[in-house]
Amino acid sequence: MPVDILLGLQWGDEGKGKIVDFITPHYDVVARFQGGPNAGHTLEFNGIKHVLHTIPSGIFRDNIINIVGNGVVIDPVTLQKEITALAKLNVDVSRKLFISRKAHLIIPTHRLLDAASEAMKGKAKIGSTLRGIGPTYMDKTGRNGLRVGDVEAKDFLQRYRNLCEKHIELLRHMNYPCDLENLEPEFFAGIEALRKLNLVDSEHLLNNYLKEGKKVLAEGAQGSLLDIDFGSYPFVTSSNTITAGACTGLGIAPRHIGKVYGIFKAYCTRVGSGPFPTELNDETGEKLRKAGNEFGATTGRPRRTGWLDIPALKYTIMINGVTDLIMMKSDVLSGFDSLQVCTHYTYRGKKIDYMPYDIVHEEITPVYDELKGWNRDLTGIQSEKDFPSQLSDYISYIEDSTKVPVAVVSVGPDRTQTIERKMVLAY
Ligand code: GDP
Ligand code: IMO
Ligand code: MG
Repeated sequence: MPVDILLGLQWGDEGKGKIVDFITPHYDVVARFQGGPNAGHTLEFNGIKHVLHTIPSGIFRDNIINIVGNGVVIDPVTLQKEITALAKLNVDVSRKLFISRKAHLIIPTHRLLDAASEAMKGKAKIGSTLRGIGPTYMDKTGRNGLRVGDVEAKDFLQRYRNLCEKHIELLRHMNYPCDLENLEPEFFAGIEALRKLNLVDSEHLLNNYLKEGKKVLAEGAQGSLLDIDFGSYPFVTSSNTITAGACTGLGIAPRHIGKVYGIFKAYCTRVGSGPFPTELNDETGEKLRKAGNEFGATTGRPRRTGWLDIPALKYTIMINGVTDLIMMKSDVLSGFDSLQVCTHYTYRGKKIDYMPYDIVHEEITPVYDELKGWNRDLTGIQSEKDFPSQLSDYISYIEDSTKVPVAVVSVGPDRTQTIERKMVLAY
């Protein structure tokens, strides 16, 4: 059986958590492949609203193996809190959560370094979630990092101290206060808890599952426009959020990849700094923020909002090899007389239909097409045949522009508010 991948096509928060939870019954294994607790994946069902940061979104389903892959960076403190929150909902992770020994550890000084780096950047700050993501991946690629497997070593404490000393020196240079007394007790408690979990060589586990014919879903975090290589650098995260990241982040060969579900909002949002061509800094943007409850699941920050950006969508479909689109938050667009869709940009005096190299220093202006809106509440709709014709037209417009089918349409945050259009999910 191939490995299917679900990932975000915009700037994150597309609704990955909701859809992974929704399609998990079609799979045996769900595996996160990159990012860390900068992610906030929201699931809503049976009156429960729950946000996951590190643990894959298949955790609420019975008989599903959930794997945190080697490409993920783990903060033991956050992980411990997530496990405690799940236990309160009677979700016992002991037999269904597996953590790669090769995943890197976020230590308290990584978080301080993240904050120090942002403070030094001043107005040019990335708008990081301050979860220590950038510094941890820097230590990984700089070959200084600590990995989950290190917690099993007798000299773990020494290894930790060695890395911590380096960070303290850096923080001193950056003139940033470093008070570890408050941070270390919870960190070591988190390490103790981590030692009790199922620590595995997840690349072997996953490849064995594939040999046995098990179905694997890889869950992305963030979005393709935040990818370290293909996003609006430097306003990006520090990992490869795209399809290729699932291969390196799980140890799965490209030939095993099957479907790539690309998930996008029917409009756009972004948290943090950086270019956002279709951003609406007006009443319409405010209306979208309100209707979509656009506040970050991890940091609570208001999300920036704007119209759907087709050139950006086509770009991320291309780099990911998306086979099926999933459109989220369609209900949020109810009540607009007309909807704008960006089809081109004006860039360096020319009209272009692709995402160019530099949108950070160069001005980029969206060119819009106008589509009719719908005035009906969509949240109770159960089937595509009840879609207002304008919504069907909006979907057709996206399919014509991208040449990829919209397989699923989401009309509300709840698990049940999900409409499968083209039975792609059934094997
Ligand atoms: P993720 O990071 O991609 O998992 O997305 P987030 O959980 O950060 O943000 C998506 C937000 O939209 C969450 O609050 C979801 O509960 C909510 N949501 C998901 N799908 C829909 C939808 O179709 N309609 C509405 N109104 N909300 C949705
Ligand atoms: P999910 O998985 C939205 C953004 C931050 C910032 C930039 C870098 O929930 O979609 P980082 O902390 O990674 O160094 O921040 O990336 N960012 C996200 N935005 N959703 C996310 O994750 C994000 N993870 C990071 O706001 O602009
Ligand atoms: Mg999120």
